Amino acid sequence: MTDLAHTLTTHLAAAFAAEGLDPALGAVKRSDRPDLAPFQCNGAMAAGKAAGKPPRVVAEAVAARIQGADGIASVEIAGPGFLNIALTDALLASRAQSIADDARSGATPVATRRRVIVDYGGPNVAKPMHVGHLRASIIGESIKRLFRFRGDEVWGDAHFGDWGFQMGLLIADFEERFGALDPDGALSAEADARLAAVTLDDLQTIYPEAAARAKTDEAFRDRARKATTRLQSGSVAYRAIWAKYRALSMAAQKEDFHALGVDFDLWKGEADVDPLIPGMVEDLRGKGLLVEDQGAQVVHVSGGETKKRKLDDGTVIDAPFPPPLLVVSSEGSAMYGTTDLATIVERAKDFSFDLCLYVVDQRQGDHFEQVFRAAVIAGYATRESLEHIGFGTMNGQDGKPFKTRAGGVLRLADLIEMAREKARERLRADDIGSDFSAEEFEDVAHKVGIAALKFADLANFRGTSYVFDLDRFMSFEGKTGPYLLYQSVRIKSILRKAEEAGVKAGPISIAHANERTLTLALDAFDAALVSAYDKRAPHFLAEHAFNLAQAFSGFYTNCPILPEKDEAVRASRLALAQATLKQLALTLGLLGLEAPERM
Ligand code: ARG
Repeated sequence: MTDLAHTLTTHLAAAFAAEGLDPALGAVKRSDRPDLAPFQCNGAMAAGKAAGKPPRVVAEAVAARIQGADGIASVEIAGPGFLNIALTDALLASRAQSIADDARSGATPVATRRRVIVDYGGPNVAKPMHVGHLRASIIGESIKRLFRFRGDEVWGDAHFGDWGFQMGLLIADFEERFGALDPDGALSAEADARLAAVTLDDLQTIYPEAAARAKTDEAFRDRARKATTRLQSGSVAYRAIWAKYRALSMAAQKEDFHALGVDFDLWKGEADVDPLIPGMVEDLRGKGLLVEDQGAQVVHVSGGETKKRKLDDGTVIDAPFPPPLLVVSSEGSAMYGTTDLATIVERAKDFSFDLCLYVVDQRQGDHFEQVFRAAVIAGYATRESLEHIGFGTMNGQDGKPFKTRAGGVLRLADLIEMAREKARERLRADDIGSDFSAEEFEDVAHKVGIAALKFADLANFRGTSYVFDLDRFMSFEGKTGPYLLYQSVRIKSILRKAEEAGVKAGPISIAHANERTLTLALDAFDAALVSAYDKRAPHFLAEHAFNLAQAFSGFYTNCPILPEKDEAVRASRLALAQATLKQLALTLGLLGLEAPERM
């Protein structure tokens, strides 16, 4: 099923071809001047240049060929030779009907189905999830749903940060509190009992304390480093501590993800590829790629490019860029890049992926460039199959990455509760839900709060940073999540009333300006999906949801449904309302928003 721009392009391409011109010139797009006509074609300009004719002459010839063609109401030439095209109501009605009848609301699937991994979320064990993980979770979830909806085979992976230095810190801390362990033996019964008694609350104070201590206490930091290496080289006792702490924080993180409406197919972490690392290191060595560098083992990834770097003594050198990827530290442990590289090996083996998308803060761009280059040099993946989908930060009013008033990082669970509380206030202020049960009220407040957070994030291009402003996010007017939920609840209520009154939907006909606008909004769904997919940018869908909701709002104000006397018009308008709700719900679903039944 093709959208209106494609249908028109077919007509225009034939007309250009009939004039002996390149049919590609017939590309039709949404008009920049919708007040003049909904669609435009600019091909006559290029054609005129190529054929050495005034563009207006070309435009006139093309216009004469399509004037009166099926579905075309008028073709006007504007300025130097723009073709402004308006459609017949019959064509609009048939397009609206096909969208209404289609389970996918007019969305086309991808031409070739690919195997896609989306790596997002990325929380770290023992550290509470904070606002930095919010964007990765929200954007990643939407990209995963979008790729799946368009027909790809998709796996979302949380890729827990569970194999790094923070684990060594926790082990050093444990030994500090409860005495040194024998890393080669199993945990003593006493240590085992102590470990079993550690709770999530404990963990939430243990980690910040250990991290702070490592900053000032060099001997402690050294022990933590050694513990990281021993953990990775198979210490049973250390692995027991690792497993307990990992399980504790993973359970808490699963709850946060659940509250956000974020779910993974694979709940894997960095540690999962541990068994693959020795083989990979051998492989890199065998290929002559592993180079000794100040006691560490690295892979050079710069293709000759350099960047100026200032050394400690103040001299400036031309250092290779990107810098080499650190594979084995001088302590002998695996690093962030090592696990990422081994994860590519694993994903290639287990999923033979065509595409792997890393939805991670854009400040990690250099890291991914290093990892991707190393993967390509080693022959583990192609460069086209690896993409870093970076995003900006959520900032505070001061324009810097968001912090709490006290200057600390805000825990995700606290942020979610803040949003919920603001939603409760908003609902009460508008006297919404005063007749709901306590349970339903909470459910609605949760959905509104989460929608506010998520939509505010997804409404901007992901690369753009935005300012956290809960009052603005929570408004029921303007481009917000709550506005969209409100509009979809309103349509649901209209449909319920129609059902109660026994009014049935019927064939769609188009005669009113607002019916045309609504049909054009519905028709824009597929293009929004394609843009969002191609650019890995959900804001195209957010924009579409808003345009659709607004078009419906105008339609509902000016085109009465139930009060309409003409039975056929009433049935047609009801069908348009149904089609709108279906597409709006689909779009909100792809953004990860959930609308309540009523509010
Ligand atoms: N744990 C990392 C962090 O908090 C994010 C992980 C992103 N994914 C990856 N494959 N490196 O910064």
